[in-house]
Amino acid sequence: MAGARDFARHPKGAVQRARVDAWLVRRALKLAFGKRARGDVVDQFHRLYYDGAVFGDTRADTSWLGVPADKCPLDLWVYQELLFRLRPPVVIETGTANGGSALFFASMFDLLGEGEVVTVDVEGHVERPAHDRITYVTGSSIDEETVGRVRELVGGREAMVFLDSDHRRDHVLAELRAYHPFVPAGGYLVVEDTNLNGRPVSPDYGPGPGEAVDDFLREQSHFTRDRGCEKLYMTFNPGGYLRRTA
Ligand SMILES: C[S@@+](CC[C@H](N)C(=O)[O-])C[C@H]1O[C@@H](n2cnc3c(N)ncnc32)[C@H](O)[C@@H]1O
Repeated sequence: MAGARDFARHPKGAVQRARVDAWLVRRALKLAFGKRARGDVVDQFHRLYYDGAVFGDTRADTSWLGVPADKCPLDLWVYQELLFRLRPPVVIETGTANGGSALFFASMFDLLGEGEVVTVDVEGHVERPAHDRITYVTGSSIDEETVGRVRELVGGREAMVFLDSDHRRDHVLAELRAYHPFVPAGGYLVVEDTNLNGRPVSPDYGPGPGEAVDDFLREQSHFTRDRGCEKLYMTFNPGGYLRRTA
């Protein structure tokens, strides 16, 4: 029988042995981490990350180019992929806060050489980064006047929409109704923080973005959840990546 040393001496045998080893490892992982177990691990890490249980408040301490950005970095990577693939002329964001996410979108557009950001927040007295591609709008995202101002700025161009303002269900549902017309067929509307209310974080939050999406998809047949955007396992927007189909 060939020993390990014989395999090492004969390259072909070594490759074969490596293949068998890899197969054994895959099989062991499959047995140890079935789909449900894998989901548990992801949810546990999600809660750990979100609550900052060990490292302090990790989530609140993330920034983009020095500006606080309240995002899961894995989601930002997916946003980058979507922006590169779809090249929307405009990103509409509700919920600017310090402007970290708006600056992230603007930075991606700088790299792509095109694109503008229109970002809305009810709070106007905040120091935010100045950037040629960013327009700040002050007002409640669901007020008709605000939506009208956004429409004016977008000027009929196709947009990608990110909802990240008041996370209560009724507000998010009103935003979905107001902003989905900006998204063209094949485009995306991302409802952020659908992880609230036990999905899997903040179990006591009450009806939030996740519930709003459930309601919206019951009344709208032109949008579907793109679970492919959840490929990096942990996302703050589970079931919240909506693709317009028609
Ligand atoms: C979660 S923060 C946004 C975080 C930001 N997008 C980021 O990633 O850094 C939510 C923001 O929504 C704003 N907000 C709350 N209610 C709002 C409303 N009715 N209309 C617009 N913005 C609102 C808050 O002032 C706050 O700045």
